[in-house]
Amino acid sequence: MYPPYPPEPWRIKMVEPIRLPTPEERRTALRAAGYNTSLLRSADVFIDLYTDSGTNAMSDRQWSDMMIGDEAYAGSRSFYRLEQAVQHYYGYDHVIPTHQGRGAENILSRILVRPGSHIPGNMYFTTTRTHQELNGGTFHDIIVDEAHDPADEHPFKGNVDLAKLDRLIRTVGAENIPYVSLAATVNMAGGQPISLANLAETRELTAAHDIPIILDAARAVENAWFIQQREPGRADQSIAHILAEICRLTDGACMSAKKDSYANIGGWLAVRDPDLAEQARNLVVIYEGLHTYGGMAGRDMEAVARGIEESVEHDNIRARVEQVGYLGDRLIAAGVPVMRPIGGHAVCVDAAATLEHLPRSRFPAQTLAAAIYLDSATRAAERGTVSAGRDPASGEHRYPKLELVRLTIPRRVYTRSHLDFVADSIINVHNDRAAITTGLTFTHEPSVLRFFQGRFAPADSTVTRSGA
Ligand code: F0G
Repeated sequence: MYPPYPPEPWRIKMVEPIRLPTPEERRTALRAAGYNTSLLRSADVFIDLYTDSGTNAMSDRQWSDMMIGDEAYAGSRSFYRLEQAVQHYYGYDHVIPTHQGRGAENILSRILVRPGSHIPGNMYFTTTRTHQELNGGTFHDIIVDEAHDPADEHPFKGNVDLAKLDRLIRTVGAENIPYVSLAATVNMAGGQPISLANLAETRELTAAHDIPIILDAARAVENAWFIQQREPGRADQSIAHILAEICRLTDGACMSAKKDSYANIGGWLAVRDPDLAEQARNLVVIYEGLHTYGGMAGRDMEAVARGIEESVEHDNIRARVEQVGYLGDRLIAAGVPVMRPIGGHAVCVDAAATLEHLPRSRFPAQTLAAAIYLDSATRAAERGTVSAGRDPASGEHRYPKLELVRLTIPRRVYTRSHLDFVADSIINVHNDRAAITTGLTFTHEPSVLRFFQGRFAPADSTVTRSGA
């Protein structure tokens, strides 16, 4: 009934106790968190599927390498090891370390984005778009339409719609497009991959207009797995080879090493253009730290370097993606509407379909994430209207087509029985969905990245929008 679930290519040698809070404790904790799973204390969470970012279990090799981290302020040996690993596996010449992915986004956006800039991307990501907008740029979604339809089974829903990109270039002018921002995989679509064929075609179009491509490489190894599994002619190529192919078609990358690289913190910006690298090194010393640590401790750079090596090992990436697939297939078998096909890092429940009786202005995904927490102390993340924020020009909510609750699987952390526990809970909440009759409304709405610190109340209570 369910797909094969290969034994994990690791065993557990250190454990962290977790505890299931009582229903009363869950109700109290959720109220105290303003019905926002982002504001729950992790001690009140049993299975934490809020994110796969920095929540990975490191290997014994990563931990042992941390002991030999070089904490020199300048010229750390650990930086040169990291630089070499990025150059070897990702193939970019210049590597600028940052504390995490958004540090790289900040530096890149400050250098390349100006008021009047237009940045096309295969769907937005929260921090990425925010940095573009803070620098005066406008984001444009150029992903294929299939990506916005949770039920569509397109194997590469991260693909660029070349007609959309071409139209944008003609409308705003190539000179106003500092770069095309391509994510592999696409987080907000539930971890959907882009194909190498589509990337090559996009490359051809952008090269004709002299527009660089910057890759969001946070989950590019997961993307490489899907290419190996699904794209004709790639089955016999190694993950490392496919990863290098992805990067070869781009001019640089922002990396959150908290994802693919099994680290708890870290990131980098990498580029081929020496002038851009020079500008980035000038900014990194202002915002992150010296250009040979960029906000990471030497030991963190060791962990990332080793994590990069582990990330491309076939058995590791297979176990990772197939574990996510297992949870997804259990939910599909039970009739829960989820984003199809199942992505690389998360199973996303279609909250708009589950709670179709709630209006979008009552935040169905935020509401469903709260209900899941109440049922089983499983923490999921809202990836819908709350995450999308308000349009900077009109001030209105942006209503994305996808209204998702993301069950994000940390790497090497949970076992199959944990996933079965989660699946049973989601199925339970789904079967009882008619009982969820009130949505949520903001009681406190931060002006940027509101999903992190926003507070809510059941929709019938009094509402005040801060700043309104
Ligand atoms: N790009 C993508 C595709 C991401 O998923 C993230 C983070 C970032 C950039 C920013 O990296 O967190 O290291 O600063 N995603 C996390 C998530 C937060 O839960 O999806 P960061």
